[in-house]
Amino acid sequence: MADRVKFIAGNWKMFKDIEGAKEFADAFLKLNRPAGIKVAVCAPFLQLTTLVDAFAGTGIGVGAQNVHFEDSGAFTGEIAVPMLKEVGVDYCIIGHSERREYFGETDETVNKKLKKLFNTSDIIPILCVGEKLDEREAGVQQDIVSAQLEKDLAGLDADTVKELVIAYEPIWAIGTGKTATPDQAQEMCAFIRGKLASMYDQATADAVIIQYGGSVKPGNAKDIIGKPDIDGALVGGASLDPEGFTSLIAAAAE
Ligand code: 13P
Repeated sequence: MADRVKFIAGNWKMFKDIEGAKEFADAFLKLNRPAGIKVAVCAPFLQLTTLVDAFAGTGIGVGAQNVHFEDSGAFTGEIAVPMLKEVGVDYCIIGHSERREYFGETDETVNKKLKKLFNTSDIIPILCVGEKLDEREAGVQQDIVSAQLEKDLAGLDADTVKELVIAYEPIWAIGTGKTATPDQAQEMCAFIRGKLASMYDQATADAVIIQYGGSVKPGNAKDIIGKPDIDGALVGGASLDPEGFTSLIAAAAE
């Protein structure tokens, strides 16, 4: 098995204003975090500069939650990769289920965004995949995730995909308090790794960091992230409070 570093990323979604981001950073930086685990916070666009400044030199990464696939143009309301580069972000969430559900994100736009990020920046994409409740109930969750991976990664080569972070987020577990069991999460993360091995090769599959996301809390982080194919978590609600997020990171590091 490859030496993958554990990676916990917060996704603040549309919570916290600039003042809230400053308060979070001040409090978070005063708390002790375990070494040897990567941490990042993905914030709304307007709060990115605040976090990049606050976390400079600390090793804590900053991520955006979306980006457009063109460098510039008449795309009212959108943000381009060069703009994220200018701000100095490290990561960008791509294809979150909330964007797929409410903002018309498709596997085709996800694929374009991944290509743009990889071809024109060092910003690491965190690609979200996952099935809906009715799809899990019908037992087709692996088919769904498999199809997402094929379309989302179309045209990306092995060396590129090695740099990718994938977050498996079953939609029925997001913000619902309903967590996938550690075994269910492990089963899908292992499936994703196997799929990558078949699309590319085993070394590539072993290099990719695969996170689980969906109601991860300080109390369940250790059991989930202790699984062999789960390398970390993409954390929504439980990333908003600096103390809670720190205990979650500590639990994940155990
Ligand atoms: P919750 O942790 O609030 O369930 O959100 C998960 C998520 O969507 C992270 O991207």
